[in-house]
Amino acid sequence: MKILVIGGGGREHAICRALASDTSVTALFCAPGNPGIAAVAELRAVDPLDPDAVAALAVEVAADLVVVGPEAPLVAGVGDAVRAAGIPVFGPSRAAAQLEGSKAFSKDVMAAAGVPTAEAFVCTTPEEAGRALDAFGPPYVVKDDALAAGKGVVVTTDRDAALAHANACSRVVIEEFLDGPEVSLFAITDGTIVVPLQPAQDFKRVDDDDTGPNTGGMGAYSPLPWAPDDLIDEVLEHVLQPTVDELRRRGAPFVGLLYAGLALTKRGVRVIEFNARFGDPEAQVVLPLLSTPLAGLLHAAAVGTLGSIERLRWRDAAAVTVVLAAAGYPGKPRGGDPITGIEAAEALGAVVYQAGTAYRAETETLVSSGGRVLAVTALGDDLAAARMSAYRALAEIRLADAHHRTDIAARAVAGAIAVP
Ligand code: AMP
Ligand code: GLY
Repeated sequence: MKILVIGGGGREHAICRALASDTSVTALFCAPGNPGIAAVAELRAVDPLDPDAVAALAVEVAADLVVVGPEAPLVAGVGDAVRAAGIPVFGPSRAAAQLEGSKAFSKDVMAAAGVPTAEAFVCTTPEEAGRALDAFGPPYVVKDDALAAGKGVVVTTDRDAALAHANACSRVVIEEFLDGPEVSLFAITDGTIVVPLQPAQDFKRVDDDDTGPNTGGMGAYSPLPWAPDDLIDEVLEHVLQPTVDELRRRGAPFVGLLYAGLALTKRGVRVIEFNARFGDPEAQVVLPLLSTPLAGLLHAAAVGTLGSIERLRWRDAAAVTVVLAAAGYPGKPRGGDPITGIEAAEALGAVVYQAGTAYRAETETLVSSGGRVLAVTALGDDLAAARMSAYRALAEIRLADAHHRTDIAARAVAGAIAVP
């Protein structure tokens, strides 16, 4: 199978590594990719947001499957253009990707499908926003309705700050605060059949103890030793399947990766958000644990034959990933700093996924070129072992003024997470 992957972050590096180790994959291309991905795939300098250019590339390389990593190309209609060229795509149409692209659309789908989520108001004026904030009381949750790479959400007890964020966006969703541990649960779907993956937990705030601003994600681990045994079955029955069924009913079948961001509250499971693609950095722990070959699974979803796939197999291990972020992130990150120590980290058994990196040919060095620069993943027999290995490997890496969280998976290892 010849596969073209679209994107160039840590998630796409994880997807490409998994595909490259699958013996059914005979050729692997990635556009635009990154220096890490270049070690396992042939890179093509095509704009991932240009649907016609991506479709032309898929035809040129005779791809049997195109896998779209990030949300922006999906929302731009890359999936539709490639499908129109007759090539199977793992990734939803522009219409179905609105599940991530518009919080208001996703709330509407959930209401129609009876999926439990936070109560919410869509507001377009300061007066509406003020009324909605007062209806719920603190802590306030204010979400930009547009795509914002995980950074459009403000959760605060400061009413003025909540209102200021609302006023800075043209349309916001203001919602009830959900209290309880968060879970990222991914499912692969062909638009009808839904196959859940193993759950992960992400760390959204930039600093230890969940302080500081929201980010795209500073680390993750999987599996979740504290999760209820019936979590996956419950989410499949009450969240994933009804959502997929509702989108199909609306004539916008969802084909690809449905990501449910969940809060396990005392009133039960609630959806915080849906995404239309793998989580980043959750993919960097979930994919290394999957032992079922990835290519056949993604292809089956793309062509509508997920029903005939064997039961998924998982490694009997735990995985932890820690993100190394550039100075300034999640604000404007500083770029151009040399990165060293990746080989030493991998010599310790870790896998270093690259995201915000660039190769500088004049000096033959790898330099930083984005906010989240690397994700260092380690596997272990249990979470404690995986966590220790990930941090030991991270310590080998040098990047001036970089920062990372020191508490990824720490509370889970300590047995300190409880579902209310
Ligand atoms: P989102 O972009 O919707 O995933 O939101 C980013 C992060 O903000 C989530 O992972 C949560 O940590 C937090 N958040 C979003 N919505 C809520 C909510 N209703 N209650 C509590 N926290 C929330
Ligand atoms: N890590 C959160 C996300 O990918 O949206």
